[in-house]
Amino acid sequence: MKSSTNLVVEVQSLSLEPYAALCVKGVLIMSRSLKEIPENDPLNKAEQKVIIDQAIAENKERPGAVMLVLNEVQGKIGHVSPCMQAYIAQQLNVPLGQVHGVVTFYSFFKQQPRGKHTIKFCLGTACYVAGVPQLIEKAKQMLNIELGQTTPDGQITLEECRCVGACSQAPVLVVNDEVQGKQRPNKFPQILKKVQS
Ligand code: FES
Repeated sequence: MKSSTNLVVEVQSLSLEPYAALCVKGVLIMSRSLKEIPENDPLNKAEQKVIIDQAIAENKERPGAVMLVLNEVQGKIGHVSPCMQAYIAQQLNVPLGQVHGVVTFYSFFKQQPRGKHTIKFCLGTACYVAGVPQLIEKAKQMLNIELGQTTPDGQITLEECRCVGACSQAPVLVVNDEVQGKQRPNKFPQILKKVQS
């Protein structure tokens, strides 16, 4: 059985066509059939595929086309799934590794749809020292998901972020863009209740 590292290396070294990329347990693998694109992927939704195709058509001949297309897709659809990355690479005639490299390098790009609400944990030094790891543990335990994941009902995404400039309030959470300081694990159930109400 191949390791995750081997699979990713394989993806980066392969020319895409006629493959589609699929994501299994967070790892890109190759599949021969476009039919295997998950039903909920934007590539399987006509109106969202129009957005992707339009972004490609408008930027294909421009310098920096990969970044331009990814920006458009992220901005309008909210994420760039592994299948979308494969499709964009195919249409722009560039290696999948190039597209995947950009998506994974910039935190602006998300590979999975985000939930209706986002809770970010500041991983800056002040917040880390003040107890953000314990807050993260509490959140993971309560929601049964990891950082970077969304609850199965699509309601809440947990993310990390860098210093938001409120170090005197450490440890800090950012709940739907609202900075909330001096948080403690025992306050997390209340935060969750408020977000879900
Ligand atoms: S380190 Fe968290 S707000 Fe600065």
